[in-house]
Amino acid sequence: MGKIKVGILGSTGSVGQRYVNMLRDHPWFEVAALSASEASVGKKYREAAKWVLDKEMPEGMAEMRIVRATPTEIKGAGAELVFSALPSEVAKRTEMDMAEAGLFVVADTSAHRMDPDVPLVIPEVNFGHLDAIEAQRKKLGGFIVTGPNCTTIGLAVSLKPVQAEFGLRRVLVSTMQALSGAGFFGVPSMAIIDNLIPYIKNEEEKVASELLKILGSFRGGHFENASMKVGASCHRVCVLDGHTEAVFLETEKAATPDEVARCMADFASEPQRLRLPSAPERPIIVRDEPDRPQPRLDRLSGAPERAKGMATVVGRIRRESALDNGIKYVLLSHNTIRGAAGNAILIAECLKAKGII
Ligand SMILES: NC(=O)c1ccc[n+]([C@@H]2O[C@H](COP(=O)([O-])OP(=O)(O)OC[C@H]3O[C@@H](n4cnc5c(N)ncnc54)[C@H](OP(=O)(O)O)[C@@H]3O)[C@@H](O)[C@H]2O)c1
Repeated sequence: MGKIKVGILGSTGSVGQRYVNMLRDHPWFEVAALSASEASVGKKYREAAKWVLDKEMPEGMAEMRIVRATPTEIKGAGAELVFSALPSEVAKRTEMDMAEAGLFVVADTSAHRMDPDVPLVIPEVNFGHLDAIEAQRKKLGGFIVTGPNCTTIGLAVSLKPVQAEFGLRRVLVSTMQALSGAGFFGVPSMAIIDNLIPYIKNEEEKVASELLKILGSFRGGHFENASMKVGASCHRVCVLDGHTEAVFLETEKAATPDEVARCMADFASEPQRLRLPSAPERPIIVRDEPDRPQPRLDRLSGAPERAKGMATVVGRIRRESALDNGIKYVLLSHNTIRGAAGNAILIAECLKAKGII
């Protein structure tokens, strides 16, 4: 059987380059269309993209011409599925146009994440939410599936097994977020070198609302939020890739740090059972050294090779006596791989494995 042809919207950006890199030689998907802003349309990808990844730009894609982000041009190039890494303000209309034209959209943008009929998916955490696609498809022809904000992903993955085994009453998180999370032109070097910025617009609200949707349920055609309380404080730090988060929990049932570590290390879900190409063998890697995880050492964790950067790394799991049934730990998640392109590619692999595409 031939590969499914895909397009990448926002292909020249921080997340777009990750797609280009991760989709080279993909066993199920072939890149048929690369798209970017009007300023890049018609240029070869190698001229339009200011490539920043340490692996060489894939040769075949370097010579492709950038097309407009319209259904006509994307379908004209033969794509049936699009990955969207557009700026959110552009994404709202463009993603809907694509779905209405019968395309399957997997989006990293926030534009449709909280829509009542759009699933917000981390395949290991809420695979079942993909069932919401059916109703959308009847209405639109195509559909939109979204992945969460890069800060929410590692947090939700680490919480899922704890929620399942001990229940969650309260989640507090303080983040140290990488520069690539703000896009190429997001934070000027003069503002961040020798510094940190203790504010990321709308981020704290997104972490809370997205986490509750993801850890909630999809029943009778509706999403129902999880009931725990969530509080976040988000900060930009001078790290290139990899978001670090200090997490504090109150569980329903008392749990020791060893029990929490065991349930995280043992965690596996549908993508692992289905042996999807981009699924990490272990979604959570628990480290017991006192000074891990660290962005430089741990951000590319995950095996096999295609899943590098897909694992959430957790360390320093310990009691928090200031909370009832309190546990605290530190996690690290690669923001443009697991937090964006990698998660979306894993969603697309789920769609294929489920026979939806
Ligand atoms: N960075 C992360 O860690 C991360 C994680 C999760 C989600 N996200 C989300 O992913 C999206 C992309 O983020 P990013 O960090 O990759 O941004 P970025 O580096 O600024 O890249 C933006 C991309 O969109 C294109 N673009 C800009 N305006 C356009 C328009 N009017 N029409 C079509 N294409 C347009 C740009 O093309 P040109 O090169 O031609 O300007 C570029 O390819 C955002 O919605 C962001 O919130 C980012």
